[in-house]
Amino acid sequence: MDCTNPVHVAATATQDSSSTKIKYAMASGTSCSSKSHKWTKELHRILCMQGGDDDSSYAKNSEGPAAAISSSTPLLVAAIRSMKLFAAEASIRIADLGCATGYNTLAAMDLVVHNLRRRYEQECADGRGVPEFEAFFCDLPSNDFNSLFRSLSATDVPSQKPLYYPAGVPGSFYERLFPREKLHLVVSLNALNWLSKIPAAVLDEKSKAWNKGRVWIDGARKEVVEAYAEQAAEDLRVFLRCRKEEMKEGGMLFIVMGGRERLQQPENQLGDPDSRAKHPFTTSMDRAWQDLLIEGLIDEETRDMFNIPAYMRSVEEVKAAFEEEGSGFEIQQVEFKKIIEHSKEKQEQWVKDPSSYGRAKANLVRAALKPIIAAHIGDLLSEELFKRFERRISEEIAMLHKTCFYGIIIVCAFRTSSSSSSDQ
Ligand SMILES: C[S@@+](CC[C@H](N)C(=O)[O-])C[C@H]1O[C@@H](n2cnc3c(N)ncnc32)[C@H](O)[C@@H]1O
Repeated sequence: MDCTNPVHVAATATQDSSSTKIKYAMASGTSCSSKSHKWTKELHRILCMQGGDDDSSYAKNSEGPAAAISSSTPLLVAAIRSMKLFAAEASIRIADLGCATGYNTLAAMDLVVHNLRRRYEQECADGRGVPEFEAFFCDLPSNDFNSLFRSLSATDVPSQKPLYYPAGVPGSFYERLFPREKLHLVVSLNALNWLSKIPAAVLDEKSKAWNKGRVWIDGARKEVVEAYAEQAAEDLRVFLRCRKEEMKEGGMLFIVMGGRERLQQPENQLGDPDSRAKHPFTTSMDRAWQDLLIEGLIDEETRDMFNIPAYMRSVEEVKAAFEEEGSGFEIQQVEFKKIIEHSKEKQEQWVKDPSSYGRAKANLVRAALKPIIAAHIGDLLSEELFKRFERRISEEIAMLHKTCFYGIIIVCAFRTSSSSSSDQ
């Protein structure tokens, strides 16, 4: 699904003697400039993972998130075993917030419904019967809901049909998505590390928090990092406030999100103090933007105005948001886990063929960032950026021999009886 709102870029490619030189003429006749930055205020209309099922789709590049889900599955299953059963209800309503599309989405919902249903079968076999299940798949409107719905109805075999009534809910989880006290169980997997917006100061050249020459905060200056951290704290509080309204007392909130280790400063977003040296993502991405600039394909302002709206919180920051939001949730468990980014087999294959490493990493990043990059510089230029990113990554042979980790934070909380409605 094309969920971008690209700047209108007309591209002509002409072959010169040494290389292919690409001349981009903006439809407006000007260079890529501030006109294209409007999307930063409209992130909720643009942000999504790459839809469809080609090599750069999220569906084909969600192994990392799948590993995060698998490693949190024992906690999820244990939490479902300990949650209150709503025996008098005709239907149990479950929401997946930030569902995207693909295997993870359906597997996660199947896991939840299967485990919860089994409890009802075992514990409510006294004539009240097993309730029906409703599953709400929620994501931003730009999500590829079509692919999701197609995969939901992919089979006609009754025994393989989902055990729930599915529905799609478009909207931001930083707003109310459901009526009051509607939901019994809410999961949000690998999604809350996306912010509601890029902090304004980060894009303001007059501010100390201006993030010049970088696309993210990993390794950035203190002021930039503080601006991101404040946005992340505010976003999590808003998320909790909304869920507090929507969830039933006794309901469960289960979150898995990208996070960082306890002692890591926020500028070390990817886990290790030397993550910029170890992790290929940030440096290669900054260099790829710089390549476009040096080649005259974008201007400096365009490079500086692109920032990635993501933040890896620490366990302490997560707990603080729950505390600051006040009563309404009781955290049952919160923990940090380190996940290996890719398998040993993949690493061996990449060592043999470094260009496949570059391709795989570029597709991984395309799957998550292509829509917002294309909104910023257009579809054609964004492909040029990814070509340079791929080349930069392939050059980093030393990285191939290192094990990259990323962190996740898992939170399980229950909706308690205190306060509701006053917040909205
Ligand atoms: C990395 S994907 C995770 C998808 C799936 N849950 C998984 O674990 O594979 C993150 C998803 O969160 C969604 N998302 C980000 N910000 C959101 C917001 N404010 N409201 C709803 N969904 C959001 C993105 O559109 C994307 O589909």
